[in-house]
Order: sequence, then structure tokens, then C-alpha cells
Amino acid sequence: MLTDTYGRKFSYLRLSITDVCNFSCNYCLPDGYQCNSDRDFLTTTEISRIITTFAELGTKKIRITGGEPSLRKDLPEIIAIANQTPGIETVALTSNGYKLFDHINTWLDAGLSSLNISIDSLDPRLFNSITGHNKLPYILKGIDKAFTLGCNNIKVNSVLMKSFNHQHMSYFFDWLKETPVTVRFIELMQTGDNATFFNEQHVSGQNIKNDLLKQGWQLKKRAQTAGPAEEFFHNDYAGSIGLIMPYSKDFCNTCNRLRISALGKLHLCLFAEQGMSLRDLLQLEDNTALKRELIKLLADKKSTHFLHDKLVGATENLAMLGG
Ligand code: GTP
Ligand code: 5AD
Ligand code: SF4
Repeated sequence: MLTDTYGRKFSYLRLSITDVCNFSCNYCLPDGYQCNSDRDFLTTTEISRIITTFAELGTKKIRITGGEPSLRKDLPEIIAIANQTPGIETVALTSNGYKLFDHINTWLDAGLSSLNISIDSLDPRLFNSITGHNKLPYILKGIDKAFTLGCNNIKVNSVLMKSFNHQHMSYFFDWLKETPVTVRFIELMQTGDNATFFNEQHVSGQNIKNDLLKQGWQLKKRAQTAGPAEEFFHNDYAGSIGLIMPYSKDFCNTCNRLRISALGKLHLCLFAEQGMSLRDLLQLEDNTALKRELIKLLADKKSTHFLHDKLVGATENLAMLGG
């Protein structure tokens, strides 16, 4: 298993397959994160080599991310590649849900095992103002369909913003009464160019945690393989709540993930400054050199991110979040 100098084991790979996104969320780049769709994103052959190599090094979970991964027409093929790779036990997808209703059958047939969907608000008008799209009812229909088809590992991501959805969290609580999903409230993270927005909108996850505990939510026991989200359950609710609080102390102690960008760079942290390109090594059929390089590069992983320090390059950092 890939292990760093702090003893953390990396069994989880976030694999971005495109930088392109069709939403324009307000916490993302000012005009939405719409990169050039002609860019030279990883091919299925390269993706297959990455997954096989990581699996041979002990990776058990692949999360496919973007941009918006469902914008790639070969997404089902990519899911199938991950699913068929010996050693991979979980194939997860993070999506904005735009194509969920139409494509969930195909994704599940290809071997998708879990699904994270971004829903920043359950109020359709607010959803529209945050994402720039009027798709909330359709996304919720997609989630219902996923349930009907037997997909019961669904998480919903909601980035908390003070003057947008923070006052409307009760919509989520009402929904969770009957809906067996995990809603993860994510602290807004500071990317290179959102300093003003961040300062105005950041909500402390610690305050939310205190409120949850007061309202009878109980902290779940952490699984050994769990990531940095803290999870809560309540006997009166079908669903659960997760909190992702990257500014909290010790957040990185349980880090279990690495990231590869859609252009084939390894990022040791979701906030690592520069990625290291693996592209040349991905052209080789024999993965010995790639394996050696990954082991070598991991030696440089830092104990924690540098979110508390000053800002880093905007686009680079943004790609970390989406992917
Ligand atoms: P699970 O595999 O279900 O735990 O999901 P995940 O949280 O790893 O994936 P997802 O793509 O749903 O990410 C949700 C949010 O958590 C995004 O904003 C990510 O950028 C953020 N996130 C996930 N892992 C990390 C991490 O290790 N560090 C930081 N800072 N943010 C993370
Ligand atoms: N802070 C926190 N979360 C973010 N995401 C994108 N940008 C940010 C940010 N600045 C979230 C999306 C999606 C997940 C992959 O990353 O909302 O749920
Ligand atoms: Fe790991 Fe970086 Fe996330 Fe910290 S911020 S948990 S080091 S990926």
C-alpha cells in the first residue's frame, strides 16, 4: 500500500477525467469553470494504466471527478474500466447531477458503486441563483431514480455560504427525515481568486457541529478507511449528515487520498500547488517506471494543506476542489 512519511495510507484515488463543467456555481471561477473542451484530457488507455497501477499499489477506491465527469461520452466505459480492475472495490462518481436521470442506468450497469451529487440548496430559486441552472427538480428526480434502481450509497454535497444557503439548512433537515442520503455540508474553501467572496461567505463548520450536537445528532464512529468528513446520525432521521471542515485542526491526519488531474498530473494534496506530470510514463505499456515514480513522489507529501497560508494560483487550486 502507498504510505507516506507520516504513516498515512493511500487507498483512495480521485481521478479527474475532464476540466469542463456546464454549471457556473458562484463559489467557482467568476464565469463558471468552463475550460477549453479541446484540451488533451486523459484517454481511456491512459486512465486504464493509471487505475491498474494504483490498484497494484493498494488503491481500493476510485472516485471519478471533473469538472463535470458526465460531460465525457465515454464515462460508462471509464466506470467499467475501474470496476473491472482487480483490487478496485469501489467506483464512485462526483457529479452535479445534470445527467443523472438520463444516465444512471448506464452508470450502474457499468459498475458504479456510489454517487456524490452537488446540491447547494433545496430551494429551486436559490439553487438557480447559486448554480446558474434551473435543474433542481430534475436532479432530485435523478436521485429518486437512482434509489429505485438500487443505488443506496448516495451523498449530497452542499457548500455552505452565509448569505445564500446557510439560513436555509432546514430544507435539508426536512428532506433527511425521510430520505436515506448523507448530506455533507462543506466549508467554503478559499481558492486563489475568491478571497473577498470567501471572507464574506465562509461559515464555520465547528458552529454547525455544536448546533447538531445540541439538536440530538450523534457523531458516528469513524471507520478506519473513512476520509476527512465527520458524520452524524439521529434516530428520528432516515438520512445522515456529514461535515467537511478543512480548516479544523487535524483535518489532514486521516488523509487517505491522492489526486490525478484530467491532464495526467499527480497532486499529492487536494491543495497541492503544482501537479507532477505523469503523462510520459503513461505512454509505456510496462508500468514499472510509473510505479517507481509514484512511490518516489509520495515521499514529498506534506503533513497538511496550506489553506491557512496565503493564496495560491487560482486555476490550479480550483481544479483541486472540483477534482
Ligand atoms: P467520499 O469518498 O464520499 O468521502 O467523498 P469525498 O468527500 O472525497 O468526495 P467529493 O468529490 O464528494 O468531495 C466533496 C468535497 O470535499 C469537495 O469540496 C472536495 O474538494 C472536498 N474534499 C474531499 N476530500 C478532501 C480533502 O482531503 N481535503 C480537502 N481540503 N477537501 C476535500
Ligand atoms: N469550497 C468548497 N467546496 C467546493 N466545491 C467546489 N468548489 C468549492 C469551494 N471553493 C465542491 C463542489 C462539489 C465538490 C466536488 O466540490 O460543490 O460538491
Ligand atoms: Fe489530504 Fe490535502 Fe485533504 Fe489534507 S487537504 S486531507 S493533506 S488531500
